[in-house]
Amino acid sequence: MNQKTLFYTISQQEWLDTAGDTVQPAVLKAFEAGGKAGRSIKNALHGKWLGHPLHPAITDVPVGAWTTAAVLDGLELMGKEKYTPGADAAVAVGLVGALGAAVTGLADWTGTRKERRKLGMLHGMLNAGATALYATSLLLRRRKRTRGVGIGLAMLGYGVVSAGAYLGGHLVFGKQVGVDHTGNSAVYPEDFVAVLREDELEEGQMRCVEAGEVKVLLARKNGDLFAIAHTCSHLGGPLSDGDLMDNCSVRCPWHGSVFSLEDGSVVDGPATEPQPKFEVRVKAGQIEVRLPESENK
Ligand code: FES
Repeated sequence: MNQKTLFYTISQQEWLDTAGDTVQPAVLKAFEAGGKAGRSIKNALHGKWLGHPLHPAITDVPVGAWTTAAVLDGLELMGKEKYTPGADAAVAVGLVGALGAAVTGLADWTGTRKERRKLGMLHGMLNAGATALYATSLLLRRRKRTRGVGIGLAMLGYGVVSAGAYLGGHLVFGKQVGVDHTGNSAVYPEDFVAVLREDELEEGQMRCVEAGEVKVLLARKNGDLFAIAHTCSHLGGPLSDGDLMDNCSVRCPWHGSVFSLEDGSVVDGPATEPQPKFEVRVKAGQIEVRLPESENK
């Protein structure tokens, strides 16, 4: 089966949607039930504190540890028993890493829809299956009598986690989950460009305007003008269709990320990357924007 057929087949699996319809609202409800603490935990799991998605960084731990275990298991099978403790320790380290990867991945998955959600669901199920195989393997490795079966389960788990990692890679490189969607900063205006007549933006309003090749969100709040990139960094949502909040921030209409209008920083995820901010001025009745001088090279 080639890659195109594989992803088409996955996209046709209705049961993945049914499962997503049950699990996704339950996970979101659990975060919401935690109130402010739940929101902070969710933001931390997305990687807001890191300014980068946390999940892909953590997945290196189980994949790396279980690769090490596969090599050491192979050496043990070749009669080099001194590698036995190292292999078992690598399986255990991978299990701890898999737990971290699972919770961060689950949080990120709540910000996906349609095909991305289906792929994410299958990715998570494969990784959960691999984790179960490794956990059983660790138990069976303790006894000489069952150690061989334990090593066999680990080999099977390695195949399953590799398939899961393949889908994870497709989610990032093919479906652009976890990629900054704010656009190519090379085309951001370095000099002021007029984008709108001043009287066309009233208090409490937001507008999508174009500055050269870039879409910019203009907002007027509490008498001040703000300008940040219009395309949401998370998955490309149109911020002007979202909500202008009282605390000078904007909520994306697609998955609810909130960005400060003052500096473009992430207030709430799932986004982890900030929105580029623009300088704004009014000249001859026109609102003009440009990249802040500090970012002009
Ligand atoms: S596109 Fe997902 S929060 Fe904006």
